[in-house]
Amino acid sequence: MASSDSNVIIVGAGVFGLSTALWLARAGYKNITVFDRGAYDKNYYAPFNGCDGASSDINKIFRMAYGDQLNYQTLAIEVRDIWLAWNKAIKTSAAADLPNGLTVDDQLLIECGCYFFSDGQNLDPFDAESLDSIAKQAPEIREAQFIKTPKGNAAEEERLRNVSPTWIDKYHLVDKFNHGNTSGFLDINAGVTIADKSCVYARFLCVKAGVKFVLGEPQGKLESLIYENNGTQKRVIGIKTYDGKRHFSDLVIVAAGGWTASIIPEAHNAVEATAGTVMFVDIPQDRQDLRRRFHADHYPVWSYQRGAGDNKSYSGGGYPISKEGRLKFSFRNRKFTSFQDHPTEPNLRISIPRTKYTDNPIDTVPRSALSLMKEVVTEAFPELIEFGFTDSRLCWYTDSIDNDYVIDYVPGYSDSLFICTGGCGHAFKFLPILGRHVRNQLERKPDQFTTLWKWRTAEEGKKNNGLSEGEKGPREISRLDMAGSRDFPFNKQPPPTTLPPRL
Ligand SMILES: Cc1cc2nc3c(=O)[nH]c(=O)nc-3n(C[C@H](O)[C@H](O)[C@H](O)COP(=O)(O)OP(=O)(O)OC[C@H]3O[C@@H](n4cnc5c(N)ncnc54)[C@H](O)[C@@H]3O)c2cc1C
Ligand SMILES: *[C@@H]1O[C@H](CO)[C@@H](O)[C@H](O)[C@H]1NC(C)=O
Ligand SMILES: *[C@@H]1O[C@H](CO)[C@@H](O)[C@H](O)[C@H]1NC(C)=O
Ligand SMILES: *[C@@H]1O[C@H](CO)[C@@H](O)[C@H](O)[C@H]1NC(C)=O
Repeated sequence: MASSDSNVIIVGAGVFGLSTALWLARAGYKNITVFDRGAYDKNYYAPFNGCDGASSDINKIFRMAYGDQLNYQTLAIEVRDIWLAWNKAIKTSAAADLPNGLTVDDQLLIECGCYFFSDGQNLDPFDAESLDSIAKQAPEIREAQFIKTPKGNAAEEERLRNVSPTWIDKYHLVDKFNHGNTSGFLDINAGVTIADKSCVYARFLCVKAGVKFVLGEPQGKLESLIYENNGTQKRVIGIKTYDGKRHFSDLVIVAAGGWTASIIPEAHNAVEATAGTVMFVDIPQDRQDLRRRFHADHYPVWSYQRGAGDNKSYSGGGYPISKEGRLKFSFRNRKFTSFQDHPTEPNLRISIPRTKYTDNPIDTVPRSALSLMKEVVTEAFPELIEFGFTDSRLCWYTDSIDNDYVIDYVPGYSDSLFICTGGCGHAFKFLPILGRHVRNQLERKPDQFTTLWKWRTAEEGKKNNGLSEGEKGPREISRLDMAGSRDFPFNKQPPPTTLPPRL
């Protein structure tokens, strides 16, 4: 079991690796080295600069609404204070004391509000549950959530106007979706984190706490784990990197996101890499009107489900414009796999991320996802029709069998190998706090997450969150109709300008 004198190697400098390193170093661990193939000391996690980890992104949703999952809800409420403290620390720093890639006007969490809504007259059960459990656990946060239904809610609107009239535009953002026939709520204490800058700041805090980094290729890229097998017991004694060097350790923590199972073969039925489809609309510099309209001051992050019950046809969201003028839209009701040979284990096929920057690069997206995104964006934001989508990305989730993280010792290695991944699309918000609980798992101090995050693998006959579908499943990219940049423009024909009256 790990202790503060252990020589610890962490593979991966995304959210899981950074947060783990930070909390271990602050707890007195003296010998931590993080390896990553990404040259994050030079490219600052910028998503269009060769970085393709899930954490390298322009923005991510920050929400506290977690249905009936009280453990994550509590952690989200708690981490919000740390995000705000990080904002403050940056704002009050001398410019010279900030790392490259950050300036004193950078905010990491922007409380632009987060809108959750779905079709129909009734709140989605998950949203209703979120409101209930927040009301019970944190009434002051519930006060900052405002319900919206198809018929309109004069009282809620009035309550919001009393907070500030500027929220009213955001409250009406959703009016054009499904001709107003939607229900949901706006949470004005939620918003977005600026993902790349947040990682830059977390890495800076790690360095200050004494963590060492080996970044970039070939020196930071793991080629294989080094195993020792003395007949009775197997151990992992270090890693080999692509520069041919061997680095020895007491413990290797693999926090390699979607690449984790390609490093730890046993993890192939504990976690699976799946792609979310992300599309962008770049608003030109000379359209300050639109840059203002989609700015976080006027436009919240949103998350929408189209279609009711089992017939949900679209699930995705939109994010406020980045400083560079980039609007992001995501699609996630179907996530895609890309099966390939396992790099070290013979006769094993697993899903491994394919991105614009991998050996076998990809710059297309599933046509079905693209069509639904076009349909929703043109309906709700006809002012974007003239631009069309201008870029795309497959962003790789690491799914577990039940959407809880996987943070535990890998069985069979005498506590020398630890897995730290399984973000399932909802871990970015926990960057400042996740490592507190990773340390508990490492030191075997039981907490509220110990049973949720324990090592577990797909069981035959269960749904397993898609992990049992395998290569023959319906979401394997090599068998799907893919769309490229030719298909990015929206339909030339804008939808009718006179929409039916609001319900
Ligand atoms: C489309 C999408 C949308 C999301 N939206 C949200 C959201 O709105 N809110 C939210 O809270 N969360 C969101 N998430 C989830 C969040 O982004 C992830 O949970 C989190 O970023 C995962 O971090 P990670 O450290 O596990 O993985 P990653 O960020 O992928 O990091 C893994 C690291 O391992 C490195 N690596 C891989 N192989 C090797 C190797 N052989 N040698 C060395 N290094 C290696 C990679 O370079 C990378 O830096 C989203 C995820 C996706 C995919
Ligand atoms: C609103 O949407 C719901 C769910 O899709 C549907 O059942 C209902 O008929 C719609 N109402 C109107 C007036 O269109
Ligand atoms: C094998 O490894 C285990 C664990 O490190 C150790 O306890 C044991 O003594 C080793 N046996 C031999 C023969 O080296
Ligand atoms: C879903 O759609 C199918 C076919 O279009 C229909 O038969 C079914 O009743 C719908 N289910 C729900 C829950 O709306």
